[in-house]
Amino acid sequence: MKRVGLVGWRGMVGSVLMQRMQAENDFAHIEAVFFSTSNAGGTAPSFAPNAEPTLKNAFDIDELKKLDVILTCQGGDYTNEVFPKLRAAGWNGYWIDAASSLRMKDDSIIVLDPVNLNVIKDGLAKGVKNYIGGNCTVSLMLMGLGGLFQQGLVEWVSAMTYQAASGAGAQNMRELLSQMGALHDAVKAELADPASAILDIDRKVAETMRAESFPTKNFRNTALAGSLIPWIDVPVEHGQSKEEWKGGAECNKILGNPAFRSAGSIPIDGLCVRIGAMRCHSQGLTIKLKRDVPLDEVSDIIAKANDWVKVVPNEREATEKHLTPAAVTGTLTVPVGRLHKLAMGGDYLGAFTVGDQLLWGAAEPLRRMLRILLA
Ligand code: HSE
Repeated sequence: MKRVGLVGWRGMVGSVLMQRMQAENDFAHIEAVFFSTSNAGGTAPSFAPNAEPTLKNAFDIDELKKLDVILTCQGGDYTNEVFPKLRAAGWNGYWIDAASSLRMKDDSIIVLDPVNLNVIKDGLAKGVKNYIGGNCTVSLMLMGLGGLFQQGLVEWVSAMTYQAASGAGAQNMRELLSQMGALHDAVKAELADPASAILDIDRKVAETMRAESFPTKNFRNTALAGSLIPWIDVPVEHGQSKEEWKGGAECNKILGNPAFRSAGSIPIDGLCVRIGAMRCHSQGLTIKLKRDVPLDEVSDIIAKANDWVKVVPNEREATEKHLTPAAVTGTLTVPVGRLHKLAMGGDYLGAFTVGDQLLWGAAEPLRRMLRILLA
C-alpha cells in the first residue's frame, strides 16, 4: 500500500478534497499520513482507516521523504519552500499539488484526466513525478468544451468569465455575504414597505456600497455584492491579468500543444471578471471553429466527451433551471448550454458553461491523479 502524505487538508480546497476522498473510498487504498504546519503531534483525523494516528510536521523533510506520494493543498508558499528542499534531499516520489507554483515547469504535468489522460500517461511513462492541478477556470472550460478540442475543431477561443468569490478564498466568500447583508440592512425598512420608491432604495444601496464602512478588506476595497470586479489576480503583459494569461498558457499545456503564443498553439484569451456567486465559475465563450460543423454534431461531440458534461438545450426554461451557479453548486456536473451559431458566421459558436470551482476546478483532478498512481 502506498504511503500518501496529505498536506493542507483542513483548508477550503483541502476540506472538499477530504470529502471527495471519503465519498470515493480513496482512503481504503492508501496508508495516509496527515501533516500539519501548526499542530504536529496532534491527533490525525479519524476518517482514514489506515492512517498514522498523529499529525506530522509538514516542514520535516525527513518525514516527507518517507512518502511515496505527497498531495498538497497547502498553497504556493508551502510548495515554494518545501518542494525544492525535498527534491534536493533526493526524494523521488510523486508530488500532487493544487497550487500554481510548479504548473508551467517543464517537468510538471497539469492534471485533468478526463481531458488529458494521454498526456498524463505519457508523463508517467517518461518518469515525470510532478502532477499539478490546473487553474479552476481553465479546468472547467476544458471539462465543458474538451470534446471540441479533442476533435481538433477549435481555431481559437474567447472566454469571458464570471468567477465566484471562492476563487479568491474563503475570507472572500464571507466578505461577499457580509456585503450582501450590509446592503440589505441599509434598505430593510424600505423593502418592507411596498409603497417605498425604488430609486430611493437604489440610492441608499449605492451610498452603502461606496461608504468607508462597507466591508471590502478582502476584495481590495471594492464592492462585489451588487457590483462586479473586472480584474482577477496581478497584471502580467499584453494588458492581461494573470488569470487571463492562464487561460491560454495552461489550456495549451493541458492539451499537450506547443506553448501559448507559439506556432501551433491555440489562441485562448478573454476578460476574467469576479461576480457575486459563491463557488461556481461561469464562462461565456466565443469559439472559432476550423469549419462550419452542424450544431447537432457540435452538441453531440461536447456531450460525449466525458461523464460529467451535460448539454443544456438552448431554451429559456432549461437554461434557467440547469445552467446557473445555483443549480450546479456542490455537484460535479458541468453543464454547457446556449449553444448556437453566432451572427459572425457558421464557424462561430456561442456557448455558456458553469462549474463548481472547488470540485472539478480544484479537488477532483488531484484525487483522480492519486487513483491513477494507485492503479
Ligand atoms: N484563480 C481563480 C480565481 C481560482 O481567482 O477565481 C483558482 O484557480
